[in-house]
Parts: sequence; structure tokens; C-alpha cells
Amino acid sequence: MTDHTPHDDPERHDDPEGHDDPGGAAPGWRNFYGRRAGKTMRPAQKSYLSEDLQALRPFGVTAEENPGRAPLDLAAIFGDARPVWLEIGFGGGEHMVHMAACHPEVGIIGCEPFINGVAMLLGKIRAAGVGNLAVHPGDVRELFDVLPEDSIAKAFLNYPDPWPKRRHHRRRFVTPDYLVPLHRALAPGAEFRVATDIPDYMRQTLEEVPKAGFALEDHGPTPWEDWISTRYEQKALREGRRPDYATFRRL
Ligand SMILES: C[S@@+](CC[C@H](N)C(=O)[O-])C[C@H]1O[C@@H](n2cnc3c(N)ncnc32)[C@H](O)[C@@H]1O
Repeated sequence: MTDHTPHDDPERHDDPEGHDDPGGAAPGWRNFYGRRAGKTMRPAQKSYLSEDLQALRPFGVTAEENPGRAPLDLAAIFGDARPVWLEIGFGGGEHMVHMAACHPEVGIIGCEPFINGVAMLLGKIRAAGVGNLAVHPGDVRELFDVLPEDSIAKAFLNYPDPWPKRRHHRRRFVTPDYLVPLHRALAPGAEFRVATDIPDYMRQTLEEVPKAGFALEDHGPTPWEDWISTRYEQKALREGRRPDYATFRRL
């Protein structure tokens, strides 16, 4: 039984606010409670997936491709030893493409299990012509398994699934299951940015992230200088909720 929040945007999937059942096949023992596919895609989006995804997808993230979970060679993915950033759950990809265009000197790996979102990102990559992105069309936990220790220079968590019901709070990203491997993958001194419109989500973020080995640097209603508002932020604003931004530093 699900009680999704209705959406005004047919391409965007519902916030997982009340699932009681896993929404997709789990990699190994892990449950994934969000959605992996939504409405039928437009032919153009299907062609982005069939023509562009393979070249952007780092090989060796899934357990099938890399059962021994050998660490990825990030320099091989981006062609040199540039700083690598991580975007967790990029949604439709607007923030990721914007960051790639603003910061051509870095490489950004994004992950998103919702395949319609991946197709939207690929369309935006074509339009923007950015070449410094890699895309894992799946769960960030698969990526955490194979990211080298201390390898990521910055990470973004924009509008994570809110899971407002108390019994679902343990599914939130800001829990040790996610924060411990994030801490391991981030380099000492790396920045971790969190944006949310859910006050209780920010409460849990401010409580849990420091416990996982991060120092709070900044928190409030003012976004980062290079921020671009995402689709979920636009929805929050339309519905009268206020964005809240926090910046942490990995200790
Ligand atoms: C509320 S949406 C926000 C999307 C986008 N960041 C934005 O601001 O518009 C949260 C996204 O996180 C993704 N997500 C949920 N669990 C995830 C996981 N374990 N790994 C990667 N992405 C995940 C969902 O599929 C969804 O697209």
C-alpha cells in the first residue's frame, strides 16, 4: 500500500513519503524504498539512455560487474587526476549539469536509481555540452562500496527523500548506514552540502552528520554562491516551504 504525494510534474516521481513495501529490486541485501521507473519516457529520452549512458557509466560499480568490489580508478574515468565530486540522488540533473559547467576543472559522479531522472540528466548533458560527468544509474550504496577511501573532494545531497513518518526516519540518508561510508569516501577536509525543505530532516542532519565525523561550517536560509535551484526546491517554494542549507567539513 502506498500513499504517494501527488505531483504536478508528470516526469518526476513521487516523494517516497509512505511506502511500506520496497519499490525496486535490491542490490544484494539492501532494500531500496524509492522508485526506479516512472511514466513512459519520450522517444528522445529513450534514445539518450541507449546512446549516451554506456559511455558515461563507470564500469565496475555493480556487484555483477565487480563481485570483488575492487576500488574504481577515478583518474581513468575522468582522464586525469582531477578532484572528483559526488552528487547523491541527482533527480532531473539540473544541479549536476550546472555544477559541471561552473567547475570544468573537476569531475562529478552522480547517482540516481530513478531511470526517468537519468534520462532527463542525459538530455541536459547533451544540451549543455559538458564533458566532466560520470553517471551511475543506481543506488549510492553500490558506489560507496567501490569508491576509493578519501577520494571525493565534495559531496552534494539536495532534497533527499524526506520519509516524514517517524518509523521511516531510519531510511533517511542522514543515518549511519549512509554517513559512515560517505565519510570513508570523502577526503579529509572535503565539503558535504545538504539542502532540504523539511525542518525535521534538517534537525536530524544537524544531529547525525557531526556524529559521523563532520564539523558544521554553516547553516541557514542562504544558498551557496554556485547554487542552482532544483526541481524539488521549486516545488517546495511553490508549496510554501522554506529551503534550508547546511555545509559540513569532513574531519
Ligand atoms: C526528493 S528527490 C530530489 C532530487 C534532486 N536532488 C532535486 O533536488 O531535485 C530525491 C532523489 O534521491 C534519489 N535517491 C533515493 N535513494 C537513493 C539512493 N539510495 N541512492 C541514490 N539516490 C537515491 C531518489 O530516486 C530521488 O530522485
